[in-house]
Amino acid sequence: MEINNTILCAVTIAIFLFNFHIPISQAQQEYTNNQLSNCGNPTNATLGNACNSVNSCLSYLTFRSRSPYNTTAAIASLLNSSTDAMSAANDFSGGADEVIPETPNLIVPVNCSCTGSGLYYQHNSSYVLKRNETYLSVSGSAFQWLTTCQALMAQNTYGERDLRPGDNLRVPLRCACPTSKQTQAGFKYLITYMISQGETISSIAQQFGIDYRSVLDANMLSGTTIFFDTPIMVPLRQEPNRTQLVTATPPPPPSPVPSGDGDSDSSTKWVIVGIAVGAGLVVILGIFVFFYCLHRRRQSQSPGAKKVSVSEIDTTNKNLFDSSTNESWSVSLNGLRDAVDSLTVYKFEELQKATNFFSEKNRIKGSIYRASFKGDDAAIKELKGDVSGEINILKRINHTNIIRLSGFCVHKGNTYLVYEFAENGSLDDWLHSNKHENSTTLNWKRRVQIAYDVADALNYLHNYTNPVHIHKNLNSGNVLLDSNFRAKVSNFGLARTVDEEEGGFQLTRHVIGTRGYMAPEYTEHGIIAPKMDVFAFGVVILELLSGREAIVGEQMLVASISEPLEGDDKRDKLGAFMDPMLGSEYPLDLANSLAQLAKRCVLQDQNSRPTVSEVLMTLSKIQSTTLDWDPSEEIQRSRSVSQVPMADR
Ligand SMILES: *[C@@H]1O[C@H](CO)[C@@H](O)[C@H](O)[C@H]1NC(C)=O
Ligand SMILES: *[C@@H]1O[C@H](CO)[C@@H](O)[C@H](O)[C@H]1NC(C)=O
Ligand SMILES: *[C@@H]1O[C@H](CO)[C@@H](O)[C@H](O)[C@H]1NC(C)=O
Ligand SMILES: *[C@@H]1O[C@H](CO)[C@@H](O)[C@H](O)[C@H]1NC(C)=O
Ligand SMILES: *[C@@H]1O[C@H](CO)[C@@H](O)[C@H](O)[C@H]1NC(C)=O
Ligand SMILES: *[C@@H]1O[C@H](CO)[C@@H](O)[C@H](O)[C@H]1NC(C)=O
Ligand SMILES: *[C@@H]1O[C@H](CO)[C@@H](O)[C@H](O)[C@H]1NC(C)=O
Repeated sequence: MEINNTILCAVTIAIFLFNFHIPISQAQQEYTNNQLSNCGNPTNATLGNACNSVNSCLSYLTFRSRSPYNTTAAIASLLNSSTDAMSAANDFSGGADEVIPETPNLIVPVNCSCTGSGLYYQHNSSYVLKRNETYLSVSGSAFQWLTTCQALMAQNTYGERDLRPGDNLRVPLRCACPTSKQTQAGFKYLITYMISQGETISSIAQQFGIDYRSVLDANMLSGTTIFFDTPIMVPLRQEPNRTQLVTATPPPPPSPVPSGDGDSDSSTKWVIVGIAVGAGLVVILGIFVFFYCLHRRRQSQSPGAKKVSVSEIDTTNKNLFDSSTNESWSVSLNGLRDAVDSLTVYKFEELQKATNFFSEKNRIKGSIYRASFKGDDAAIKELKGDVSGEINILKRINHTNIIRLSGFCVHKGNTYLVYEFAENGSLDDWLHSNKHENSTTLNWKRRVQIAYDVADALNYLHNYTNPVHIHKNLNSGNVLLDSNFRAKVSNFGLARTVDEEEGGFQLTRHVIGTRGYMAPEYTEHGIIAPKMDVFAFGVVILELLSGREAIVGEQMLVASISEPLEGDDKRDKLGAFMDPMLGSEYPLDLANSLAQLAKRCVLQDQNSRPTVSEVLMTLSKIQSTTLDWDPSEEIQRSRSVSQVPMADR
């Protein structure tokens, strides 16, 4: 009798665990994660989708109609598909030259094959470079991330800095053929689907009428963090059609009180609520069965039975929304429910364990703690009140120079955000505090690289996200440095999105920010526009150059830049402006170029400031010249009597 009971319990637990722990063994293609802009660092995933036993197949890409690629003919030609195949797949009846309005998700059928090297699936196309284009801009702007800069660099012979207009690039487009496991499961095709803002794995799976797991498996995803504007492979049983793709709108933010007015949205809401309640019941049932079994086992003293801890069972993120942690959800549950799909939801106990109970030793500064999850470092920030804004912005943002949010936890009215860890802390500590004794570590090359990285992040926010994001609170304290002194922009607590169609700016009466960094049009008129980030960035460059703080008392750093750049003795004046920590270990001409750039960034009139893409272009030149610069020559030059005239711009 007792033995029978034990077996019954074991079987129940096994079934229960199995349901929630289906191992990811049928993995196929590795998701690119947030590595698309990390051009210098190729990974297997960014180089392409790995080949399996099928040599070639028909497959599908998705593409957004966008000038100049806004006709069937133009898109087919860019992606080396055929106009006939495209018209058929999208049910287009107009001619090949009919302009397709800006629309998401056109279906582009292509032949996908395992090419030359036998390593990656790809569909080949080609591209003639225009002026000022880079591998990154070609992959992102022209090809909408259907290829990566890493794959382009691997398959073209031109060096990154040798690209010239008119060069003909080979373009490997990302595609894949089904694995045998997928074929067995009835899948015939894979579509390279571009994730839009607000989409989640479950919304994508639902849209294509397939199981959530198959999407995870197809991309070797174990967590559910995905980023918009990255491609994800979706397995399909039938050819995709436009109805499936066009009706795809990002899921509406769920409301706590279902409206019940019978619109089409509310049925989805009820499905989601239903699933959540269902999952909750299963979890509660599971826990009940578990404790029942535990109880029986204690009674029967059955020796050697395998121990199963509650936390092993309790691993589905969803159940954190259940009644068990009711009090924690006073903070905007509404805004966060959406984020659960793409981020890890931590339990407070996990955070306590990872931070030695938020000990002083683990405190980085303020309410930021260093944490360690199974050996992986992370930073945890404790915040009061509603932070769903920052979470919802960061969970969708994808750039190597922007700090990555990996998860969060809500506990007793506080929210804890878990970020990737930046070993070297914040830039302001290196520049302005005596925390780091050996200040020569932050040498000229590193400073230029930091400026470039920050500009790269801003360029992404202003030009590659839709809607446009404005950081609004850039300062040297929010620029974090990783182990290689590469910069990562953090703290999106004040970030905003603006709609380009509405003029690309917003007005506010609530002016908050960091003194010394706020642009005059913002402090005076409450104008929130991308140029306010350019202003703040100019201040950060000035800090990098001078080592001085953005504001001391009432003295603003921005006020001190004109003088060193004017007059006959500007060479000496600039020398005096520079950070003494740099000694003479910097090229004065490049320092001058950088100072000129900073000066333009902090101009009072926002229209006279450069855009961040211009800033990035200038910095890219300064950076490549810096890479060729040899510190020993500079020392010689500064010793020699003959002085090189300094270019003004
Ligand atoms: C990348 O691919 C190569 C060759 O297929 C393999 O040997 C290597 O282990 C892979 N690296 C990672 C990190 O998966
Ligand atoms: C389509 O692209 C062409 C070429 O760039 C452009 O001139 C035209 O304005 C675009 N049309 C629409 C509706 O976007
Ligand atoms: C794929 O290749 C076959 C045979 O070469 C060809 O008939 C077909 O049109 C191609 N399909 C597409 C979408 O290019
Ligand atoms: C695609 O291009 C690669 C080189 O980038 C080449 O090795 C391969 O044979 C090409 N595949 C096809 C089908 O043309
Ligand atoms: C276009 O695709 C076909 C295979 O469908 C391939 O043979 C051809 O080389 C590709 N063209 C370019 C320019 O890569
Ligand atoms: C391209 O770069 C050149 C300088 O190399 C610059 O003068 C020009 O304005 C840039 N063009 C565009 C379209 O950005
Ligand atoms: C589109 O595809 C879905 C799923 O494959 C199917 O249910 C639907 O009927 C298709 N719609 C059209 C218009 O073909």
